[in-house]
Amino acid sequence: MSEEKIIRVDMGGLDSKQHSNQSVLCLGIESSCDETSAALVDSDRNILSHIIYSQIPEHQKYGGVVPELAARAHILAIEDVVKQTLEKAKKTIDDVDIIAATAGPGLIGGVLVGWMAATGIAQSTSKPLIAVNHLEGHALVPRLCATMADGSNGDVNVEFPYLLMLASGGHCQILLVRGVGQYEMIGQTLDDSAGEAYDKVAKMLGLGYPGGPIVDKRAQSGDPRAFAFPRPLCDKPGCDFSFSGIKTAARTFLSRETMSVSDEYINNFCASFQASVVDCIINRLGNALKDSRVREYNPKTLVVAGGVAKNSAIRAAMESFANKNKMIFAAPPMNLCTDNGAMIAWAGIENYRIGNIVTEPVAPRPRWPLTEL
Ligand code: KG4
Ligand code: ZN
Repeated sequence: MSEEKIIRVDMGGLDSKQHSNQSVLCLGIESSCDETSAALVDSDRNILSHIIYSQIPEHQKYGGVVPELAARAHILAIEDVVKQTLEKAKKTIDDVDIIAATAGPGLIGGVLVGWMAATGIAQSTSKPLIAVNHLEGHALVPRLCATMADGSNGDVNVEFPYLLMLASGGHCQILLVRGVGQYEMIGQTLDDSAGEAYDKVAKMLGLGYPGGPIVDKRAQSGDPRAFAFPRPLCDKPGCDFSFSGIKTAARTFLSRETMSVSDEYINNFCASFQASVVDCIINRLGNALKDSRVREYNPKTLVVAGGVAKNSAIRAAMESFANKNKMIFAAPPMNLCTDNGAMIAWAGIENYRIGNIVTEPVAPRPRWPLTEL
């Protein structure tokens, strides 16, 4: 493209609130998967309003998210979701200081919808715009609001550095979080994410989508020793995960059944599968604490985040692991674990504080590792 054809857009710039102690109000927009969500969050850690429009019913009959349908559904929902978010807080766009939206990673059709909506709002109002990495939204939201494993005890303060187990539908990583934009990858999955494993096992059992919450619930009434699921990589050093072997084991167990399985069978199956996932997470976290990079920073807090952080067994096991290792455990409240606009607004505020503001057009990215921030 020749120089004269490059159109420069004024995306708003740094302003007086950035380095001051004045409160900042951020409109955050999330649209990277199957939730269209927006929130108004301020820098004093108040969520003024939060709308999450879940597309789950639209995807349920296909057994998973259909990207094309998701993108269309985001287009139909986004305007209403943003309007309702402002109305619920009795605010207008003039009251908002900054706009933040997910710019990746995720299903690109959906990301584009939210990102273009945010870009339009920022341009038409000359407000600063922040391109938020969705994973950073998950990673930083415990600093907006964190609880103990059972969701109690309101407000645990999460300070840098912390050790993060990030487990969602698309990712499974152990990260050392040193600051905003400063992530060290300690371990990650070599194949499926933890959320994918839950969703696939649920699908095999005919339990519907998303599988995580259903398997979690079923597991509570089952025997975790009923099926001998493997613990992949647990006899190996390092902090990486592998869930494909667990999935294959699930398929093998099920292929032995010729008749439809009972409720008791399903509960035992879910409990045994979940015990294997929990053991893998705790084993890998044990190795993470021995990692030289983690030892150097000596994080005092262990955090779980992402959709899988809703899991009762994982939260409980991580809390007792943290206690044994004299660490503080923190998890986002349940409604801030799965995808939501508040985490994007909060990551927007944290990035704004360090001057990470869009100054030229940003192309959303389907893949955008945290280590590339
Ligand atoms: O973070 P998220 O909302 O979306 C992505 O960014 O991927 O995570 C969604 C994932 C799904 O795989 C879902 O099954 C899983 O989180 N999930 C759970 C639970 N609730 C949601 N997995 C295990 N136990 C749960 N209670
Ligand atoms: Zn997510």
